[in-house]
Amino acid sequence: MIKLHDKYFKPFISAQEIETAIERLAKEIHNDIGEEIPVFVGVLNGSFMVVSDFVKKYPKPCEVTFIKLASYEGVKSTEDIQRLIGLTQDLKGRTVVILEDIIDTGNTLAEIHRIFKNEQVKALKIATLFYKPAAYKKDFKLHYVGIEIPNKFIVGYGLDYDGLGRNLPEVYQIKETQHMTNLVLFGPPGAGKGTQANFLKEKYNLVHISTGDVFRFNIKNETALGMLAKSYMDKGELVPDQVTIDMLNAEVEKNADANGFIFDGFPRTNAQAEALDILMDAKDSEISAMVALEVEDDVLVNRLLERGKTSGRADDSNESVIRNRITEYYKKTAILKDYYSTQNKYFGVDGVGSIEDITERLSKVIDTL
Ligand code: IMP
Ligand code: MG
Repeated sequence: MIKLHDKYFKPFISAQEIETAIERLAKEIHNDIGEEIPVFVGVLNGSFMVVSDFVKKYPKPCEVTFIKLASYEGVKSTEDIQRLIGLTQDLKGRTVVILEDIIDTGNTLAEIHRIFKNEQVKALKIATLFYKPAAYKKDFKLHYVGIEIPNKFIVGYGLDYDGLGRNLPEVYQIKETQHMTNLVLFGPPGAGKGTQANFLKEKYNLVHISTGDVFRFNIKNETALGMLAKSYMDKGELVPDQVTIDMLNAEVEKNADANGFIFDGFPRTNAQAEALDILMDAKDSEISAMVALEVEDDVLVNRLLERGKTSGRADDSNESVIRNRITEYYKKTAILKDYYSTQNKYFGVDGVGSIEDITERLSKVIDTL
């Protein structure tokens, strides 16, 4: 991920993919033009990189020139195209190929057609490296298209956001969800995870998604996903990850304007962690950190036995049952600790002390994200 001015962008098209597309364009155009010497006209500023790489791949003699037009302000195309440098040579009778970095609304292209209207060229062909079909509003033919892309703002490889990003050798796409704090919260039974989740969600304005609660909610309300999950549970089978992910997706979508999420009880396996990464990526976001409360076993056992005296929860009143639950927890989370550690996203936080002290320690971690 990169940041230009106030916006975040994520990797979208690699330098290798761009090179392949340009090679293909050069081949197609050469096949059509044959031995004639074409004039390639780049449209500045954006097309300087495309033109440079394209003409190096063009296998036969050719001429190169530029015109300079400007239409974009920030991340929006404007109708008002300024002609900053027009044609500086006579192109009568020549085969002209316009080389564009990107065709978006087609406003710039309309201006290009106006420029060439009275030039009496033999042929005017339009080639563009990137094309946004969903944004295109004109009907000028595009003769050669490198890569079709969705209608989202991109930077890199000649394209800029308010002056920045043109020098990047690959292309990045704008992240529509701007920076979120998404935590995967872990803690052994008795570590005070629920209490801390409540504080964190208030303090950072996050939405707490407890997988257990989400399941109970969907089953109780007999949602389609709830019924599906229940059908597996009734057969004594594990609910497939995709069903759980779909439920979490629904929760994330319900809270589309949140500052971020606290995931609690999910993921539990590598496959689930990967599925969660894919879900977050589809939301133009990512998991910021796995935060695990660390508490010694003996302290946990004492806390849970205390709690068992008043809560009456059967699994909180037997020491060996408690120790088993703790062992299970470590067995399961070890894998996830590794998963997030390799991405430098694992943060262990000392879970012994007053509630305020622990919140303080957690906040220290979150504030650095
Ligand atoms: P159009 O006139 O709307 O077709 O836009 C053409 C010009 O707008 C391009 O030559 C670029 O300079 C600029 N442009 C369009 N889309 C993008 C984008 O996603 N990123 C950066 N510049 C863009
Ligand atoms: Mg341009």
